[in-house]
Amino acid sequence: APVKVSKICCIGAGYVGGPTCAVIALKCPHIQVTIVDLNKDRIDAWNSPDFALPIYEPGLVEVVRQARGRNLFFSTDVDKGIKEADLIFVSVNTPTKKSGVGAGFAADLKYVELATRRIAEVATSSKIVVEKSTVPCRTAESMRTILEANSKPNCRFDILSNPEFLAEGTAISDLFSPDRVLIGSLQTQEGIDACQSLKQVYANWVPEERILTVGLWSSELSKLAANAMLAQRISSVNALSAICEATGANIDEVAHAIGYDSRIGPKFLKASVGFGGSCFQKDILNLVYLSESLHLPEVAAYWRQVVEMNEYQKRRFSKRVVDTLFNTITGKRIAVLGFAFKADTGDTRESAAITLIRDFQSEKALVNVYDPKVPHEQIWLDLEEASPQVPLDTIKKQVTICKSAIEACKDAEAVVIATEWKEFKEIDWEAVYASMNKPAFVFDGRLIIDAEKLRKIGFKVTTIGRPSNNQD
Ligand code: UDX
Ligand code: UDX
Ligand code: ADP
Repeated sequence: APVKVSKICCIGAGYVGGPTCAVIALKCPHIQVTIVDLNKDRIDAWNSPDFALPIYEPGLVEVVRQARGRNLFFSTDVDKGIKEADLIFVSVNTPTKKSGVGAGFAADLKYVELATRRIAEVATSSKIVVEKSTVPCRTAESMRTILEANSKPNCRFDILSNPEFLAEGTAISDLFSPDRVLIGSLQTQEGIDACQSLKQVYANWVPEERILTVGLWSSELSKLAANAMLAQRISSVNALSAICEATGANIDEVAHAIGYDSRIGPKFLKASVGFGGSCFQKDILNLVYLSESLHLPEVAAYWRQVVEMNEYQKRRFSKRVVDTLFNTITGKRIAVLGFAFKADTGDTRESAAITLIRDFQSEKALVNVYDPKVPHEQIWLDLEEASPQVPLDTIKKQVTICKSAIEACKDAEAVVIATEWKEFKEIDWEAVYASMNKPAFVFDGRLIIDAEKLRKIGFKVTTIGRPSNNQD
């Protein structure tokens, strides 16, 4: 019969494990939730008296404020967390492999494996082990093999897959009212019982009909598939944006018209300078790798194209900036507004802004960058990683991090909007215009500004998915 869960441990206090388990604690006051991590700085930040949490997410502080110390705890004592729990989420990082077989494509499962081995080693009672990291299909099987090979008497391990679909920036509202919760298990009696145990946890706040229970493999593949399909929509709309720029069609009008088809729907059709984030590219490359390992090269090529289109979109945008600025940006000052991969997050993983700035640097431009949430240290780290052959000193001569949009735009030839922060919609463009060199250019990579209004002020405006000569 299903176990009634009273203690949960989450291994990994990152973007996924932290918010997810904090919300579980908030919604299930009768369950003790302990989030453990090897990274002491991270745990200290989660425990900080003034709630200076290690990640920025709207609404997260309020959740932690209510639950921390009540039934939510953060600790570096991984073993104790494992020993006490009846249910363990494994929510560690699964970066793309940098070397060896599958380098650049396959997920590096060493952290998952280490965490799993730790569970096998220290557990003294039965556990439900839940795979929560984004990982390619069949990870649960490896976890199961490790756990079974190490099981002890009176100590059984049931494996579940419970992929997380939250998006950064809206994590808390996504967790409060998810479109669905997906739980995958083996279709054995034990598997189904374990699945019911986890389902009862979510049922504390998620309507039953939104909790889907499926087989282990379907669950794992669904996570990759959902992200691949979402990214594919953006690459599709971005591919259309290139046609719009060449023909005089307007991508916003096209997307609007397409979205009215109820079979397509209006969401996730915003053309942009390219998608970023820790998931889309990584998950698609995983799908590509999986397809190749299954000897399905046509399938691999199909999904790979989604990532290639995204690279093309970024390249195309920076080329358009250079072309518009009379084919050279050498020595010219360019203000890049936004560095995060999307609004309402301080996360920069795979952000399009990184690629743009790297391109501008290699054209020998001077770059002013401003982002309301990204720590300056992170910007330097990302730019350093993007141009490994350039010393940081040299980068710092070319790039300046500014404290406001206005400051970034001062004396610039061009403004490039890379992230759709709300505050960029409310910029005092008259003041910006007055402070810029003339002609003053604006490049809207996020379709957020009123191009007509800016043209009236005097700006030369270039927008994704609109022709360059469009001055109407
Ligand atoms: C994504 C999935 O949405 C989420 O379900 C999954 O759990 C993790 O991956 P996330 O990466 O946090 O979430 O953000 P998302 O809102 O999906 O945006 C990803 C990227 O696509 C961002 O760079 C965003 O700016 C871009 N995007 C999104 C567009 O360019 N156009 C759109 O219409 C939507
Ligand atoms: C299509 C468009 O739907 C319609 O809006 C446009 O005006 C003309 O083209 P149609 O070709 O009549 O209409 O049929 P549709 O229902 O779209 O199906 C097209 C093909 O896709 C069929 O062979 C159908 O069997 C197939 N299909 C459709 C699938 O294989 N899977 C699906 O989920 C949906
Ligand atoms: P995600 O976006 O998937 O949540 P993060 O990198 O933000 O990824 O978080 C993953 C966390 O998992 C990191 O804080 C890392 O220190 C932690 N971690 C990795 N391996 C282990 C392990 N074996 N035991 C405990 N914590 C781990």
